Amino acid sequence: MSVTWQRKDLLSLRELSAEEIGKVLSTATVFKEILGRPIKKVPALQGRTVVNLFVEPSTRTRISFELAAVRLSADVVSLDKESSSIRKGETLKDTARNLEALQAGTIVIRHRSAGAAHFLAERLKASVINAGDGSHEHPTQGLLDAFTIQERMGKIAGVRVLIVGDIVHSRVARSNLWALTKLGAKVKLVGPSTLLPKEFAELGAEVSHDLEGALEEADVINLLRIQHERQVHSRVPSIGEYAALFGLTTERFRRCKPGVLLMHPGPIHRGVEIASELADGANSVILDQVTNGLAVRMAVLYLVSGGRGIGGET
Ligand code: CP
Repeated sequence: MSVTWQRKDLLSLRELSAEEIGKVLSTATVFKEILGRPIKKVPALQGRTVVNLFVEPSTRTRISFELAAVRLSADVVSLDKESSSIRKGETLKDTARNLEALQAGTIVIRHRSAGAAHFLAERLKASVINAGDGSHEHPTQGLLDAFTIQERMGKIAGVRVLIVGDIVHSRVARSNLWALTKLGAKVKLVGPSTLLPKEFAELGAEVSHDLEGALEEADVINLLRIQHERQVHSRVPSIGEYAALFGLTTERFRRCKPGVLLMHPGPIHRGVEIASELADGANSVILDQVTNGLAVRMAVLYLVSGGRGIGGET
């Protein structure tokens, strides 16, 4: 599948075609091979400045974007809310325009407001990459999840992916849904009715509230984090009750296919979304997802910057 990348920004997977998603995944495959070499660095983004503007907490996304920029030989700086003038009342637009005045060529933004990345992309010449905006989208997480499924299952089309948990607050669920359905996977969403509105069926997924019934048919199970910070407490009686009804316990795991892939975007709550033994067990690809995030974020930084400098067209 060969398509020329035309986009200045990566804002959502909803707006990407299957071919564009395929382009990111094939480019990430090249970078994953490079990351396996003794010298893991390429000069593709030499002279370009990447700024990570994280106005919400992050471990995996922020560090992997930083490392991805370093591996591509970009200059990279990171800014968070606590240490920036956002604390003094500077607006997001002014902050970003000041970063651009300092010659930032790419701004990677995580923000609690849905649409924050789109807002900046419309106002800046710099490339903008959405690293998670409220409950809207987390496109690089969706891409790294698709990459991990393709790597481990050898395909995405026809794979049965079960996404469990707090769907309504989850930008990961939305980005996974867009990517996986476009690539031909069969996606089923399961969660309490208060965290899984039936409108999600209109986005191309099957919606169910019966975890036990869904486990047996799944090739991949992606367990979502309970979003404490997005008022989930008002929607489930208690975390203990959620775990009892929708957590993947070792007992429930016996119903699953032997080769099922267990995924989680992190951070995981051991004993809530997934039993600790399963998170660390042979079926878990949770840390592979993190590793693949580096290659995928290198691919995204590379493509939005014009896609030249690693030895030809990818
Ligand atoms: N999966 C994910 O976005 O993790 P972080 O919040 O640690 O970046």
